[in-house]
Amino acid sequence: RRTTVGIIGGGPAGLLLARLLHRSGIDCAVLESRDRGYVERRQRAGILEQGTVDVLRGCGAGARLDREGLVHDGIELRFAGRSHRVDFPALTDGRRVTVYAQTEVVKDLISLQLADGAPLLFGAEALSVEGADGDRPAVHYRYQGRVHTLDCDYVVGCDGFHGVVRRAVPEGERRTYERGYPYSWLGVLADVPPSADELIYAHSPRGFALFSMRSPTVSRLYLQVPNGTDPADWPDDRIWDELETRAAVDPATGAAPWKLARGPITAKSVLPMRSSVTEPMRYGRVLLAGDAAHIVPPTGAKGLNLAAADVTVLARALTHLHTTGSTDLLDAYSATCLRRVWRAEHFSAFMTTTLHTAPDQSPFDTRLQLAQLDRIATGPHAAAELAENYTGLPLPAVP
Ligand code: FAD
Ligand code: DHB
Repeated sequence: RRTTVGIIGGGPAGLLLARLLHRSGIDCAVLESRDRGYVERRQRAGILEQGTVDVLRGCGAGARLDREGLVHDGIELRFAGRSHRVDFPALTDGRRVTVYAQTEVVKDLISLQLADGAPLLFGAEALSVEGADGDRPAVHYRYQGRVHTLDCDYVVGCDGFHGVVRRAVPEGERRTYERGYPYSWLGVLADVPPSADELIYAHSPRGFALFSMRSPTVSRLYLQVPNGTDPADWPDDRIWDELETRAAVDPATGAAPWKLARGPITAKSVLPMRSSVTEPMRYGRVLLAGDAAHIVPPTGAKGLNLAAADVTVLARALTHLHTTGSTDLLDAYSATCLRRVWRAEHFSAFMTTTLHTAPDQSPFDTRLQLAQLDRIATGPHAAAELAENYTGLPLPAVP
């Protein structure tokens, strides 16, 4: 079997890249190790930047997103009993975000792909990539119990943090920068309408809490918990009580009273956090995109958006090569992406360390966090910095 661009991984990065290449008339094939149901149900991100929405619309995946996505004009910060709203359009020249779950993005892209796109093989696990520095890299993969080979002009690793494509780059040619965090998130889904119209990010002495949503009838909620927490130690009532306590407002601050609506919890899981970047994102004819190249802690909702930005830059570069024969944009791919990646790494680490309480945190460190949050709440510059990063930097202009 052979194709022009072999895409390993059918998550948001791989599926979106396949759509973009298909629309440019570039032949590609996607290999995804899991089955379709698993990929469509995997509960992950929920917030799309304006640029991500635009790219999805541009490749024909915007219809349901436009009908069902919830456009949000801001977030609420809670700390020290206070409540403060960050108004995105006012601080960013009109930029907003859209709440539309990763599960739905993936479903939309898969159905488009199967209807009129390039081959998308579920249950096809890439085992190794050979010939990264030659003209004809090959992917060995297992499908229906047998090992096959896909010969490619280019191989793109969209295979997530535990993927195999990164290993095709010799160890001496790549470097990984990382940081861990001494806490995780307990994430739950609940069949109850969200208690606020916008997301709430809460700093509290008991740890961080985040109130998000998946639809007008489904809430998505997160609590900071110690690493290694067993979700079984968190019965539903304990979760609701803790969420309510961490986001409590002090009426003396003038904050509006707030009541958390409770409902049946339908899923519970613990998510560890890390920051990680592998450089460069290209070696010969092998390219990395999305979580295969970088991980952010979830606070700030950058993971899925970064994956979408990478493949947008990559699709543009491969299209440029296809139409002009020039590798200029492809040669710039890694540097172009890494600039945005490091900005998002900084923002995600900043949001994480400003809002969470580390187990060994000193009262001095807590005072620093509160001083920073107060700065965001009272001065336009710190709020604008948050709003610009949250709504997402524009994609680099096409040269
Ligand atoms: P992935 O979505 O990981 O897709 C990689 C795909 O490759 C998978 O489908 C995998 O099955 C497949 N694959 C792996 N190895 C192989 C192989 N050898 N052969 C073939 N296929 C392979 N971001 C946020 O912004 N907000 C959140 O709340 C949030 N929550 C998250 C929760 C969890 C548990 C995780 C892991 C991530 C979360 N993220 C969140 C991050 C966000 O979901 C990711 O950044 C996003 O999924 C990246 O897309 P991707 O396509 O690069 O990688
Ligand atoms: C969600 C996740 C995030 O990490 C975040 O910052 C906002 C929302 C979510 O899953 O809805």
